[in-house]
Amino acid sequence: MSQIRFDGRVAIITGAGGGLGRSHAKLLASRGARIVVNDLGTSVDGAASPSLAAENVAAEICAAGGTAIANGDDISDPAGASRLVDQAVSAYGRVDILINNAGILRDKTFAKMDLDDFRKVLDVHLLGAVYCTKAAWSVMQSQRWGRVIVTTSSSGLYGHFGQTNYGAAKLGLVGFVKALAQEGQRFGILANAVAPLAATRMSEGVLDAEVFRKMPPEHVSAVVAYLASEGCDITGEVFVAGGGYLARAAIVESRGVVLASDRPLPEQVACSIQATLDLAGANAFPNLEVAFKAAALRLEDGAAPSADA
Ligand SMILES: NC(=O)c1ccc[n+]([C@@H]2O[C@H](COP(=O)([O-])OP(=O)(O)OC[C@H]3O[C@@H](n4cnc5c(N)ncnc54)[C@H](O)[C@@H]3O)[C@@H](O)[C@H]2O)c1
Repeated sequence: MSQIRFDGRVAIITGAGGGLGRSHAKLLASRGARIVVNDLGTSVDGAASPSLAAENVAAEICAAGGTAIANGDDISDPAGASRLVDQAVSAYGRVDILINNAGILRDKTFAKMDLDDFRKVLDVHLLGAVYCTKAAWSVMQSQRWGRVIVTTSSSGLYGHFGQTNYGAAKLGLVGFVKALAQEGQRFGILANAVAPLAATRMSEGVLDAEVFRKMPPEHVSAVVAYLASEGCDITGEVFVAGGGYLARAAIVESRGVVLASDRPLPEQVACSIQATLDLAGANAFPNLEVAFKAAALRLEDGAAPSADA
C-alpha cells in the first residue's frame, strides 16, 4: 500500500500543545500537511493562565523539517475560533482538515457540581468544536473537500462517575458529527469521531494506569490520520482507538416489541419492557429516515427492523 500523505493539505488541530493533539499535529506534518497548532496552553481544568504550548509544538515541527504556525486562541470563544480559521486561510490559503481535540476536565459528582463547571466543559468540548467547524465549514464547502474529526470519549458513550458534564459534551459531539456527515457528503466533506484511549496528563489517575501506559497518543494519531486522508470514504462513524485497539462504536436499536392495542397501557409496557432490552437482531441505523421507516415497518407487519429498510 502506498504511503498516506497530506502534501498540499492544511490542517488545524485544536488543543495541540500537548498530549493527543501534539501527536496528531506531528504525524500529519511528517507526512506533508501544513499545520496550525492551536492551544490556549491551559491546565487540565482549564483554569491556569495560558502558556506557550502551541508555539513550542509549532517550533518542534519546523525543527523536524515540517511546516507549522502557532495559534493561542481560546476555541470556546466564537471570535477565537474564527481568528484561528482566518489565520490558517491567510497563512496557507485553505483549510482541509480540522481536528477538534481541545478539552478540559472538571469532574465532580452531579450533586456537587456547579453549573459553571458544567457549562465550561460544554463550552470547550462541544461548543468549541461547533465554533471551529462553523468557521471552517464554508471554506471546506467552497473547496468541495474537507475532513472534520471530533474527539469524543467512552465516558460520553458509556457514562463515567463524576463526569456528567464531560459525558454530555462528548455524546453531544457524536450527534453533531452524525448530522454534519450527512450535510457534508455532497461537498466532499467527511466527519467522524474518535474516542481515544491514551496516556496523557488528562488520563492520569483515570482507570488503570498500568494499562494506559501501554497506550501512547501516537496509536490514536494513526487512526485520526487515516480519517483525515484522501482515501478515507467513511463518514458519520465513531471509532474507539488506543494502544493498537481499534473498534467502531455504534448506537443501536433493539428489535423491540409491538405493544398490542392502539393505545398501550403502562401495564403492557411493564410486561414487555424486558424484551426490548435484548439486543439480538439490533440495528445501527445510518440516519433518521431509515430508523423511522424501520419502526413504521415493524408496526405495520411486526417484521424485524432492517438497516436497509
Ligand atoms: N487521553 C485519553 O485517554 C482521552 C480519552 C477520551 C477523550 N480524550 C480527549 O482527547 C482530547 C485531548 O486530550 P489529551 O488527553 O491529549 O489531554 P491534554 O490535556 O494533554 O490536551 C488538551 C489540550 O487542550 C488545550 N485546551 C484546553 N482548553 C482550550 C481552549 N479553550 N482553547 C484551546 N486549547 C485548549 C489544553 O491546553 C491542552 O493542551 C480531549 O478532547 C479529551 O477529552 C482523551
